[in-house]
Amino acid sequence: MKVSVIGAGNVGASCAEYIAINKIASEVVILDIKENFAEGKALDLMQTATLNGFNTRITGSTNDYSKTANSEVVVITSGIPRKPGMTREELIGINAGIVKTVTENVLKHSPNAIIIIVSNPMDTMAYLALKESGLPKNRIIGMGGTLDSSRFKCYLSKALNVPASDVQGYVIGGHGDTTMIPLTRLATYNGFPVSNLLDAETLKKVAADTMVGGATLTGMLGTSAWYAPGASVAALVDSILNDHKKLYTCCVSLNGEYGQSDICLGVPVVIGKNGWEKIIDFKLTADEQAAFNKSADAVRAMNKVLSEMKTV
Ligand code: NAI
Ligand code: 2OP
Repeated sequence: MKVSVIGAGNVGASCAEYIAINKIASEVVILDIKENFAEGKALDLMQTATLNGFNTRITGSTNDYSKTANSEVVVITSGIPRKPGMTREELIGINAGIVKTVTENVLKHSPNAIIIIVSNPMDTMAYLALKESGLPKNRIIGMGGTLDSSRFKCYLSKALNVPASDVQGYVIGGHGDTTMIPLTRLATYNGFPVSNLLDAETLKKVAADTMVGGATLTGMLGTSAWYAPGASVAALVDSILNDHKKLYTCCVSLNGEYGQSDICLGVPVVIGKNGWEKIIDFKLTADEQAAFNKSADAVRAMNKVLSEMKTV
């Protein structure tokens, strides 16, 4: 079981670490454009192997894609992260060029890989990767909603004062401060609707905190977060390699589901050995559907910026 992670920065290294610690894959290759950077991260991580009790072989490579050959999953985190005050959308021009080149290089050596896109603006980058690669749609997975849902559950658990693992909830739509939709109505504490346990004002605050979850951390850290993003990717890789068929919100190509087409957007999907295998096309309320459509409009506008740059 071989996984390659493109981009040895904060998210890439964190993702490699969680894959190793959780014994998800036997081999992880980290690749970066910066001379010796991925090699350094890999060596540092390997020096935790005896302490953390893992046997995963982690190696690094400076832009040599032959080292990534025959990966079953490739995670693309390469690009520049968000700086304080910067929107994910502002990253579009720089990261589009990077994601396009990286996807081409990856597929030359791992033509059967399932690709997980992390680089922002992720919904547009997933759309770009899908269009540029011509891959079957189930093999392109954008990671954003998995992280946003995890943040949602974290804020809910704090408000409820219960363990986060006892909370269920999904955030759908785009991976943007104003485009994501925490599905408060469907969130539960072990099956009990949270709307019966928390007042409307608290629920509103939980949803608002979730939506700016990434920006809050960027403001605190001076760059975007990495632990929860890395763990979110590792969870998806686990479900793919071990064919767990777990349900996560991921950004996938829609063909009429949730009333949208020709767009990649976050919806609940079953993740297994074939990539995303099934969309749970749940009937939304009129308000939720209106929010989803608004989210789609915003992502579509970003995709249009991309097509005007003649990248797609
Ligand atoms: P980082 O700056 O720590 O790491 C990015 C790495 O990519 C750098 O080491 C850089 O040298 C490398 N890189 C740049 N161009 C490359 C190329 N052409 N080939 C190979 N490597 C290249 O950034 P961080 O924090 O790891 O974030 C990475 C990306 O992920 C950013 O776009 C960020 O906005 C995004 N992100 C997305 C999340 C999501 O939920 N979808 C969550 C967190 C971050
Ligand atoms: C995050 O949500 C910025 O996408 C990044 O942390």
